[in-house]
Amino acid sequence: MATATAPAQTAKPQHAKPKVADQKMLIGGKWVHSVSGKTFATTDPTDGSVICNVAEGDKADVDLAVKAARVAFEDGPWARMTPAERGLLLYRLADKLDTHKTELAALESLDNGKPINDALAADLPLTIACYRYYAGWADKVFGQTVPINGPYFCYTRHEPLGVVGQIIPWNFPLLMQAWKWGPALACGNTVVLKPAEQTPLTALRVAQLAQEVGFPDGVINVVPGYGPTAGAALSGHMDVDKIAFTGETGTGKIVMTAAAQSNLKRVSLELGGKSPNIVFADADLDAAVEGAYFGLFFNQGQCCCAGSRLFVQESAYDAFVHKIVEKAKGRKVGDPFSTETEQGPQVSQEQFDRVLSYIAAGQKDGAKMLVGGGRVGDKGYFIQPTVFADVKDDMKIAQEEIFGPVMSILKFKDADEVIARGNRTHYGLAAAVWTKDVKKALRLANGLRAGTVWVNCYDVFDAGAPFGGFKMSGVGRELGQYALQHYTEVKTVTMAM
Ligand code: NAI
Ligand code: MG
Repeated sequence: MATATAPAQTAKPQHAKPKVADQKMLIGGKWVHSVSGKTFATTDPTDGSVICNVAEGDKADVDLAVKAARVAFEDGPWARMTPAERGLLLYRLADKLDTHKTELAALESLDNGKPINDALAADLPLTIACYRYYAGWADKVFGQTVPINGPYFCYTRHEPLGVVGQIIPWNFPLLMQAWKWGPALACGNTVVLKPAEQTPLTALRVAQLAQEVGFPDGVINVVPGYGPTAGAALSGHMDVDKIAFTGETGTGKIVMTAAAQSNLKRVSLELGGKSPNIVFADADLDAAVEGAYFGLFFNQGQCCCAGSRLFVQESAYDAFVHKIVEKAKGRKVGDPFSTETEQGPQVSQEQFDRVLSYIAAGQKDGAKMLVGGGRVGDKGYFIQPTVFADVKDDMKIAQEEIFGPVMSILKFKDADEVIARGNRTHYGLAAAVWTKDVKKALRLANGLRAGTVWVNCYDVFDAGAPFGGFKMSGVGRELGQYALQHYTEVKTVTMAM
């Protein structure tokens, strides 16, 4: 197969790697060992070495955490707080994270492998902004007075659900925690969070900071552990009122089934994607190249909304492919703690193997590999930025979520064709279109079946803009005002006058 150009390993690290002690879990305001006494190792993806050991939660720990969260919800300082007081705690948490942002970025880089530059430029500001945004909502969630027939006074209340279970993935650990905790806490719920087993460290640190700013005991509980044990115990628990999950579509089905088979707890899911990124020949080609490159390679390609089906119109195809391949060749892969690094390792051996297997599938199916294709170095989970051109719709790399630095470029003729092909997937998380023609942009924005459509941009996130999937990319929306409905029940009160 074509020889890959190995991107140069970057220079010396410029940020210090933090040292991390072994970690306990947080239940009812106490830092405790697991009931079983078991621990698991969280590892550094740059070389597979153990960072520290973490208390491994299972059913017994989840039971204790749910009990603590129930008590805090029904009978504690949290239950008596005004919405404005809850908002103030969220503002204080945001401020606290702000003063600890360098430390948190380093911890996120260490556990996940993402470049510290990216953590500082994206993960931390977005996380802090998310808490501030929902802090502002805390005292603005309320019902209506309803003019019903007869001598009655009728009104609605938007009440918290109760105990909320939340299961998050490893690609944006701090941010996913903020997307879950922000709206849940603003609405007055209590939470039990299970972070991903690959990246538990920042969730635990944020929980500690939340304690320091004054969140009452039991409002926030964190139970690290594995999916089929701790995750399953949480999603199948009879005393959890809602489960919020982000991760793979297949896991989302398991979570939803567990919710249905236990107590019909409320479910919101943010799942996978295979998002079409569509470049018309009349676009600003350089901007489209930048956007497509960022939209795929950002975060080592580990984004649910990655623009992983890149459709380029035929008259611009050759020029576009040439430009993007040149960019990919120059991408700096290496130590996440070097400020020059643009791409770190994949999160785990499992993900590394999985991404390489997709690269092999692309080669086998006959896509044209123009750069990349192999690992970088001989330790850690570094993968070369890889570009496949002449990809066909039915190839595996054009259908399944790769979650790695692997770009697939497909050729198209016109708008009707690309809308149909763009929608020919079970997913519907995001899409993008690049064109200078406003009519075409709006036609595509309306025609694409996806929860988010970006026009002449990619990966633009804001706490105020809802995010979530059509079809098998999810259930419900996170962020914005839309997330609040997933953390409240509506109560109708009717009083005779
Ligand atoms: P996953 O969906 O298995 O893991 C996400 C979270 O779910 C983790 O906290 C995990 O412990 C938990 N989990 C796993 N099994 C569970 C179960 N039976 N019950 C309850 N919770 C459970 O994703 P994984 O295996 O880490 O990655 C596999 C693929 O999933 C990736 O290659 C990628 O394609 C996709 N993925 C998508 C994400 C997204 O943001 N949409 C995030 C992470 C992965
Ligand atoms: Mg899994």
